[in-house]
Amino acid sequence: MTGTPAPQPPLTAIPGDLQSLSDYERRAERHMPPETWHHIQAGAGAGTSLAANRMQFDRYRLVPRMLTDMQGATTGMELFGLRHAAPILLAPVAYHRLAHPQGELATASAATALDTTMVVSTLSSIPLEDIAQAARAAAVELGRTAPPPLWFQLYVQPDRAYTAELIHRAEAAGYQVLVFTVDASVKRSDFTLPPDVDAANLRGMPRLSQNASAAGGQIVFGTPLLDAAPTWESLAWLRTATKLPIVVKGLLSPHDAKRAVEHGADGIIVSNHGGRVLDGLIPPLDALPAMVEAVEDRIPLLLDSGVRHGTDVLKALALGARAVLIGRPQVHALAVAGMQGVAHMLHILRAELELAMVQTGCARPAAIQRHHLADGS
Ligand code: FNR
Repeated sequence: MTGTPAPQPPLTAIPGDLQSLSDYERRAERHMPPETWHHIQAGAGAGTSLAANRMQFDRYRLVPRMLTDMQGATTGMELFGLRHAAPILLAPVAYHRLAHPQGELATASAATALDTTMVVSTLSSIPLEDIAQAARAAAVELGRTAPPPLWFQLYVQPDRAYTAELIHRAEAAGYQVLVFTVDASVKRSDFTLPPDVDAANLRGMPRLSQNASAAGGQIVFGTPLLDAAPTWESLAWLRTATKLPIVVKGLLSPHDAKRAVEHGADGIIVSNHGGRVLDGLIPPLDALPAMVEAVEDRIPLLLDSGVRHGTDVLKALALGARAVLIGRPQVHALAVAGMQGVAHMLHILRAELELAMVQTGCARPAAIQRHHLADGS
């Protein structure tokens, strides 16, 4: 018989040759059906944004600094009054059960073990309450009083009452920050979920097709999907609907950054959605400096898209980000070795960041500055 071999089951022990996030990425393909792998990895269009997301980091070189006293050094930092162990968070990624049967439960346990904040997607394949419970249970098992802060990512629903319900459920389950994703209401996708994976938080809610074009001659303009897409008014409404800090995810323009501040946003994630929505977008690292200038320190800016090394984290912080998020690497690690894989992947990234901080003489994230970078382009 010919054809693609069946996906390999997740590993139960971590082999010695998995030593970087790229190692996990290379290995992950074997652990997923080809169409799932393509869905996770794909960039929009010709993949130019996807490639640029990596190149943006490679353009900068680090300037090491020696002989700094590193006693008491820490990666710890605060965001929205909450302590975070490192400026690295797990980005919201839909449907973790595509990668592993335990899905978000495994990711949440791993994130808790590594004291890392997970941003849970509206489109999680396990209910948001159960994910929070898994994080709390993992904290108890580890002898900790509480898990790291959990954040919830919101996709506004066509019906505002359902959006409000989602927010209230997240608040009741103990989520402490709301991430409002604004860049993905209309995008192309040919991927069909397998029958045993669904959007667990949205069961019973009316849904619109996630594809940009609809039957009946309409392409994008005039479709119900675009009509239901969020606007600045949605952000103003959100501000009245919750007391949680609101972080707007998916801005790349300094004008939008200013506008978000004016509408009461508490933070921004500078992101091009991992190059998945539109090809040819400005890479977030290129967009960051002008956005930092535009918000004048009034709110923190975070960054994602393409972060794969501890040195990438350092570069983003040197250009003014307060923290970064990683998307695909958590799916790779989950597919390869479930909870253990995600925990190991986070450990690798944290260790790489600490090494980079030692070499640049930065004893705290706030010490990482522009002078630690040389533009190598
Ligand atoms: C995403 N992303 C995403 N973002 C979001 O706000 N809500 C979501 O449900 C999802 N779902 C999702 C699924 C998959 C398979 C991917 C790869 C990405 C985007 C994600 O939060 C993040 O912006 C990017 O993944 C960051 O880029 P890297 O780290 O994957 O390069």
